[in-house]
Amino acid sequence: MKFFIDTANLEQIREAQSLGILDGVTTNPSLMAKEGIVGDENIIQHYKTICEIVDGDVSAEVLSTDYEGMIKEGEELAALHPQIVVKVPVTKDGIKAIKYLSDKGIKTNCTLIFSPGQALLAAKAGATYVSPFIGRLDDNASDGVDLIYKIVDMFGTYGIRTQVLAASIRHTMHIIQCAEAGADVATCPLDAILGLLKHPLTDIGLEKFIADSKKMGK
Ligand code: G3P
Repeated sequence: MKFFIDTANLEQIREAQSLGILDGVTTNPSLMAKEGIVGDENIIQHYKTICEIVDGDVSAEVLSTDYEGMIKEGEELAALHPQIVVKVPVTKDGIKAIKYLSDKGIKTNCTLIFSPGQALLAAKAGATYVSPFIGRLDDNASDGVDLIYKIVDMFGTYGIRTQVLAASIRHTMHIIQCAEAGADVATCPLDAILGLLKHPLTDIGLEKFIADSKKMGK
């Protein structure tokens, strides 16, 4: 499973990249606004900076909601850097835009997926990734991880090559559950990734090794 970081915060992206396990970055308008990125020039520069920090795919979301606007923005975003993946919401215009962009060889990430049917249409349109939002489903008394199982199973049945990118991951166990469900990618907050390292027996074991290493003259 690939690990993406789900943030527009450069410090966190650098920290995740320094671990050597990062495969890409996802952003969205809320994450960009949270970092205070305002205006076209700053938005463009921010995406370019992220692409320079990481090696893999960087999702940049269109802000238009109509087909013409989405394809114009999508082409502009894709031209910024070869690592850019154009993120498009799963609406009627969005599906048309994904079809247009993927036919042009531009990578796309279909976002705001909450059902297998939405994922199927996005894949049919040629999306590189579909992004089911598992945390937001959990927030609404639905089983987010179950949606990952369903989409992975459906794509497997038909040999669909669109990658399942589990998004809206809120905590470390979500990452494990998405891996068990067969997600191709999990896009995660940094804390959730670092949580994978935690185990009290590791801490206790390391403490003992350090104490015993002193007996070895170290
Ligand atoms: O990748 C989508 C993600 O950013 C949404 O997460 O926590 O706002 O539901 P959240």
